[in-house]
Amino acid sequence: MILIDGKEAASKLKREIATEVAAMIDANIKAPHLVAVLVGDDPASQTYVASKEKASRAVGITSSVYRLPAKTTEKELLDLVDFLNNDDEVDGFIVQLPLPKHINVERVINRIDYRKDVDGFHPMNVGKMVLGQASLVSATPQGILYLLETYKIETKGKNIVVLGRSNIVGTPMSILLSRKAAMGDATVTLCHSRTENLSEITQKADIIIAAIGQPEFLKADMVKKEVVIIDVGMHRIVDEKTEKGYRLTGDVDFKEVAKKASYITPVPGGVGPMTIAALLKNTLLAAKKEIE
Ligand code: GUN
Repeated sequence: MILIDGKEAASKLKREIATEVAAMIDANIKAPHLVAVLVGDDPASQTYVASKEKASRAVGITSSVYRLPAKTTEKELLDLVDFLNNDDEVDGFIVQLPLPKHINVERVINRIDYRKDVDGFHPMNVGKMVLGQASLVSATPQGILYLLETYKIETKGKNIVVLGRSNIVGTPMSILLSRKAAMGDATVTLCHSRTENLSEITQKADIIIAAIGQPEFLKADMVKKEVVIIDVGMHRIVDEKTEKGYRLTGDVDFKEVAKKASYITPVPGGVGPMTIAALLKNTLLAAKKEIE
């Protein structure tokens, strides 16, 4: 069994980004600028945004954060989106999710200039991705493709099962893996909460991408020998035996599934670091204005 080291792969990608940013600065082009918009005080969102800021700075990308109170109105947020769309100093921005319930997420995402949508959530970017056109691709699925590529894991002709159909991970992942492209050409089955006889499907998979949002959902008896496992989940579960009183775990019963797998990502240290690196890559791409 080979443990897929997301930290190491992310460091490699970040080094490549840092080299490109340094070359831009040498050529008197301003450093790319990434903005994060954070509404309210969700602790997980604050942690994500802090990691994004730190990672940006480490590669030479300028980073700033707009922190808005939870009572911010939808109009005020849309006005900020308009402002960032029109600010030439800003190359890309993200609006951290989840948003407070009184704000319509779709309206906010649809308002972002798709050329600055480094999350790849805008319908224009999703549509272009489906058509195989150059676009800003959602960071987590993009990071997963990079991991598969780094470890030379063949996708062509393979049976890949994606667990979960979210707009952020499962749906774009299924599309990317089935495209006629490098790190594509797979036969993809997208499974979700209404899938019947799930085990029968997962047992046939050469590769499983678990993004179902349930701690340790995928068990050893659901997979075949030599399967490749990519675990997108991140859950904090109570564990009295640990010093902190909790431990982090993914959507996969790692201890048991690892015994059967040929490759597997750990949680933490697998997919997570790649997501941030892919976001930085998108920011660089947006700054280069190569996407029409
Ligand atoms: N919340 C959890 N993951 C993400 C992400 O990738 N982007 C944004 N904007 N919000 C998130």
